[in-house]
Amino acid sequence: MTTKDCLTVTDSRTGKTYELPITNGNIRAADLRQIKVDETEFGMMAYDPAFMNTASCKSAITYIDGDKGILRYRGYPIDQLAEKATFLEVAYLLFNSELPTQAELDDFTRDVTTHTFVHENVRTVIDGFRYDAHPMGMLVAAVGALSTFYPEAKHVLDGEVRRRQMIRLIAKMPTLAAWSYRHSVGMPFVYPDNELSYVENFLSMMKRVAEPKFKAHPVIARAMDVLFILHADHEQNCSANVMRAIGSSRADPYCSVAGACAALYGPLHGGANEAVLRMLREIGSLGNVPAFVKDVKTGRGGRLMGFGHRVYKNYDPRAKVIKHLADQVFDIVGKNPLLDVALELEKVALSDEYFVERKLYPNVDFYSGLIYQALEIPVDMFPVLFAIPRTAGWLAQWEEMLLDKDQKISRPRQVYTGEAKRDFLPLEDRK
Ligand code: ACO
Repeated sequence: MTTKDCLTVTDSRTGKTYELPITNGNIRAADLRQIKVDETEFGMMAYDPAFMNTASCKSAITYIDGDKGILRYRGYPIDQLAEKATFLEVAYLLFNSELPTQAELDDFTRDVTTHTFVHENVRTVIDGFRYDAHPMGMLVAAVGALSTFYPEAKHVLDGEVRRRQMIRLIAKMPTLAAWSYRHSVGMPFVYPDNELSYVENFLSMMKRVAEPKFKAHPVIARAMDVLFILHADHEQNCSANVMRAIGSSRADPYCSVAGACAALYGPLHGGANEAVLRMLREIGSLGNVPAFVKDVKTGRGGRLMGFGHRVYKNYDPRAKVIKHLADQVFDIVGKNPLLDVALELEKVALSDEYFVERKLYPNVDFYSGLIYQALEIPVDMFPVLFAIPRTAGWLAQWEEMLLDKDQKISRPRQVYTGEAKRDFLPLEDRK
């Protein structure tokens, strides 16, 4: 077969030549299967641990160009969304491909706001945890438990049912997140206040003590909203991939989100900003920065946490927005003393050949931990704060997967490296 755009491959083992069609600049891995030495073979596969160079899906949600430092949701640059939109507007955009009109946004906001309460038994689920349970562990369990309260959610191919669960999840995640936190600090649960905005309500459920109504400072509420926008989606990251994989077996979205949260729990994904704080505390003062950077370069001091990214080989566009946000927050709550260390570290690293050569720039986590700490949010809550907005991205990815005719149950192949067939030895014959 000859097509206009194709990749011509010659197998040196057989001398045979194959033409693999190129679509959107890529070949289909399944087209490699025709490459065999003899007909009884399974055929050629691509070995790609950690999906370093494998597109597992087509997606129209998020675009990243790591070399240029570009991140867009549905075509809109992240910095424009962070400046002009609200998180719920962005969630609507992720779900529906287009920004909402005022009437659509009002409907969407009303829908989300009237689904913030959870069944009273969920309280018991969270109450059942030990006093020192990690809030992320509780969040994973509580969101999975929601599956049992909404049995109709299993009808994932019914668009109306699907959309109802998407609204419920966006609405209830802040409630579950805040209650997990309150349990971990031994504080009574605060019920949702549907007169407040999405973020103000979350802050109220986290922070309210005896006052009849919690009023977040508008700058703080806006900062949190922007942080939510920045974390809403990031295409096929580890947790989105988990969401798609679980959802591909047609599990309901509560179980799928629980799995995605579990993936986010890991320090290599949702936990890096905690590591940044630990590192900044260890460095302690400006004077120690040069020695620390030297140790990083010689491999004695570990990595410069909050620097480098698998995809971005340029300044992470989210880090730029967060750096600016940090200034606004510190104007209200007072400067985090570790900020000067962070700024000096960034200055030194960005002019150092080691970091320049390797294209290591600050990532989203470099400044976000400093903001959360300034808001007196404990580090255990950092991945939980990530999970709330990322739920919007997970759900958009999940629905796109379900509606994609190319998709099937997610099931990678393996290269078997174990023993060839051997016969069972009775226990008494084993040495
Ligand atoms: N500090 C010092 N050196 C680094 C760093 C760093 N933060 N990151 C990478 N390097 C060096 C590596 O040692 C390697 O050097 P070499 O070529 O001399 O061996 C080179 O840069 C390439 O590094 P890789 O590990 O191959 O890059 P990869 O893309 O696999 O890693 C990662 C990306 C894991 C994010 C890495 O940069 C890192 O560990 N950063 C610190 C942790 C962090 O901030 N993670 C948050 C990421 S953002 C997020 O997940 C939301």
